[in-house]
Amino acid sequence: MQFDEVKKFGVIGLGKMGVDWVANLLEGGYEVVGYDSAPGAAERASKSLGKALGWIGKKRHPEEEGFAEQAAARFQIVDTEEAFTAQLGSCQVMLEVILEDLQLKCEVLSRLAPNLPDGAMIWTNTSSLSVHTMAVASGRKECFVGTHGMNPVYQMPAVEVVRHREIGDDNLELTLEILKGLGKSPFVASDVTGFWVNKHLVPFMLEAYRALERGEITVEDGDSGLQGSLGHPQGVFKLSDFIGSDTMYRVAMAMYVATQDPRLYPPAILARMFKRGELGVKTGKGFYEWDGFKPIGGRDFSEFVIESSDTLLEV
Ligand SMILES: NC(=O)c1ccc[n+]([C@@H]2O[C@H](COP(=O)([O-])OP(=O)(O)OC[C@H]3O[C@@H](n4cnc5c(N)ncnc54)[C@H](O)[C@@H]3O)[C@@H](O)[C@H]2O)c1
Repeated sequence: MQFDEVKKFGVIGLGKMGVDWVANLLEGGYEVVGYDSAPGAAERASKSLGKALGWIGKKRHPEEEGFAEQAAARFQIVDTEEAFTAQLGSCQVMLEVILEDLQLKCEVLSRLAPNLPDGAMIWTNTSSLSVHTMAVASGRKECFVGTHGMNPVYQMPAVEVVRHREIGDDNLELTLEILKGLGKSPFVASDVTGFWVNKHLVPFMLEAYRALERGEITVEDGDSGLQGSLGHPQGVFKLSDFIGSDTMYRVAMAMYVATQDPRLYPPAILARMFKRGELGVKTGKGFYEWDGFKPIGGRDFSEFVIESSDTLLEV
């Protein structure tokens, strides 16, 4: 397939990352059809998409009157998998952005991939899972590419393009070309657990959660310390709230299952937040309390602190 032949994307999964990808693809002039299986997802996705396109219009296309409306007109949400499947025959790329669960992703991919035209590519936005395993499940190994976008996709330039061992070089090149056309700065990474970014970021974040559990730091001091000294744009706890405790938990658990590295086992504080529905920005409560995208204040986790072995040994 050539660059100019790519006109339409099918996006499955319209949560945080799916919608942000849709916004970026619409900005790039593509037609997009999207589907999400959750009840009420279409309404939530339309609302978030409106916000994303509003931001893009204001920041990047201030001269173009009606930018957001014109972009949104190229997007269609369907409410059943059958309706989505029926449209795949006219898509040149399908982008998978559902939950970080290897079995679920493989099931969905193997069901949907046969409906794509010959030569169409499949992209996956997985954070950490084996891209080759998904490529095999799709039955289209050479057309299958990992495209790990960063959150929020339409603001963050990097996209980690994962090269698995049976990818077709032409598909890797075409993916890089499309992403550059969207204004992204893609880079190529290996198909190892967590690829390049999460291989470093996830253990770092889990260690920050454990420090909080041990009472070594508070949420706000932790973030301002990393911002002021290491130049992090927001600090680890705010970042975590933007990602969501559900996604962080699933990513950490998937990386633990794949590697058996105990450092990757999700700490209790994260599991507890996920279980209680304290998902971060999307539910208004995580490590911070949130008013929309504005943090109101870091929460106090001191009641959960268990004395560390160092303290217990003190005489
Ligand atoms: N949140 C982040 O910061 C981030 C960053 C990079 C990568 N990712 C990855 O992106 C993917 C999506 O993450 P997210 O944060 O957008 O999660 P999310 O929970 O916001 O969205 C996932 C969506 O998938 C939908 N879904 C689940 N099963 C489905 C099915 N069978 N058919 C259709 N829709 C289905 C859910 O209803 C949900 O709306 C994951 O693989 C995640 O690891 C997330």
